[in-house]
Amino acid sequence: MVHTKIKRSFSVQFSKGGESMSDVKITVTDNGPVLVKGDIELVDGEGKKYETKGMTALCRCGLSSNKPFCDGTHSSDFKSCVRVD
Ligand code: FES
Repeated sequence: MVHTKIKRSFSVQFSKGGESMSDVKITVTDNGPVLVKGDIELVDGEGKKYETKGMTALCRCGLSSNKPFCDGTHSSDFKSCVRVD
């Protein structure tokens, strides 16, 4: 079992630029990041905004040195597969 500590919270707004939720797809990858396809506004727990466009990989393992984004470090030692029941 993998436990990941989240030090800061993030929120994602799906209404930026008039986009509807159907314009954004979020995929939890096996043993890797959360992929967000679509233009989003990502905001950290201190209110700092990260503008993203297209595809964004968000770190899920806690090992990235470029949080909240994935930098590929998960490939060394992160195992977690999430399934919807
Ligand atoms: S998920 Fe890729 S570095 Fe954390």
